[in-house]
Amino acid sequence: VSLRPYNTFSLNATARYFAAFHSTEALQQILRDERWRDTPKMILGGGSNLLLTKDFDGLVLKNEIKGIHVVGEDDDYVYINAGAGENWHQFVMHCIGKDLGGLENLSLIPGNVGASPMQNIGAYGVEIKDTFWELEALNLDTLLPVRFDNAACEFGYRESVFKRQFKNRFVILNVTYRLHKKPVVNTTYGAIEQELAKMGITAPTIRDVSQAVIHIRSSKLPNPAEIGNAGSFFKNPEVSAEKYEQLKVAFPDVVAYPLPGHHFKLAAGWLIEQCGWKGYREGDAGVHARQALVLVNYGNAQGADIYNLSTKVLQSVEEKFGVVLEREVNVV
Ligand code: FAD
Ligand code: EPU
Repeated sequence: VSLRPYNTFSLNATARYFAAFHSTEALQQILRDERWRDTPKMILGGGSNLLLTKDFDGLVLKNEIKGIHVVGEDDDYVYINAGAGENWHQFVMHCIGKDLGGLENLSLIPGNVGASPMQNIGAYGVEIKDTFWELEALNLDTLLPVRFDNAACEFGYRESVFKRQFKNRFVILNVTYRLHKKPVVNTTYGAIEQELAKMGITAPTIRDVSQAVIHIRSSKLPNPAEIGNAGSFFKNPEVSAEKYEQLKVAFPDVVAYPLPGHHFKLAAGWLIEQCGWKGYREGDAGVHARQALVLVNYGNAQGADIYNLSTKVLQSVEEKFGVVLEREVNVV
């Protein structure tokens, strides 16, 4: 089976076997089948954070569990549960339509609800950990569903327990978010403030914030329907205050944000741009011309071509700045 339609990098890798499931029971049934017991498995959502570097000699399981339900309510919050196979942006729009606040800054992030806790998706000053309540996941060893609350997911910047020690051990089935009935908007991220000012809005609603985010994203991130990519290819690296001060002396324009605990987060896009990569192209693999943190497939690049380019980028950033970038996408 070609996986090309199932990954936003549009890479033409294949999977030996492919199955979609629409319920927990259907997934359990597949996994109980002796034929698949020793076959390697890969869980697939929207394929928007994947770099397929070779054919997959195993079973790809595409999560298609649907459904959005209110599962609880108190004075301040509504608890809303969505199946892992629901499209993330449609889920965000559904919540905004019900005047529930907390996810509006995360509008237009590609992919599905089930992958949202995987790397604690984030954008424009908000991460899902801020509103995440709990999830249900199937343990691949016992085939039983288990609940994880916020603390159990060990969320960090683009990190969770599912990306580390529980990698390939659980299939996320559904996720519950705790959303605000009386939303307070978060416009702390500079670009949102500027966009709202351009829109002439002084007292923004969650709809306004969502619209602003959609505008900003559409103007600088490549649309995977037009040009293959998986969003930011690397994480923004965190460095000590000491390292930041050194960099600042040598490179007065360095872009960085202070973090708690005397650390700084550097804009990897800036580091990469300074190394001259922005707009670079090698065959069909390239570095996006408007956002150097995004690697792109202009058509027929192989996953290995993108990976090799990412290694060169990583090496040059290390040479010039002494900072080691970490890949953000899931390399298979
Ligand atoms: P997939 O790519 O299908 O899977 C990602 C990983 O999670 C894989 O390892 C897969 O095996 C695993 N997985 C998927 N579903 C499940 C499940 N149900 N259970 C267990 N494991 C599972 N991310 C951000 O955080 N912020 C952004 O602003 C952002 N912008 C982006 C912009 C563009 C243009 C693109 C293409 C991507 C962007 N991303 C961003 C990355 C991506 O959208 C997110 O990581 C998203 O959550 C991936 O969802 P998915 O369903 O496509 O996951
Ligand atoms: N910059 C450059 N050159 C570039 C790109 C960026 O100099 O080519 C500098 C600019 O100074 C810019 C700053 O970097 O102001 C930050 O850029 P931007 O606002 O585009 O955000 P980012 O740090 O590149 C991060 C996330 C995105 C998320 C945005 C908005 C990571 C790895 N990436 O990107 O997430 O949408 O912030 O919050 O944290 C993703 O994870 O796939 C993703 C797209």
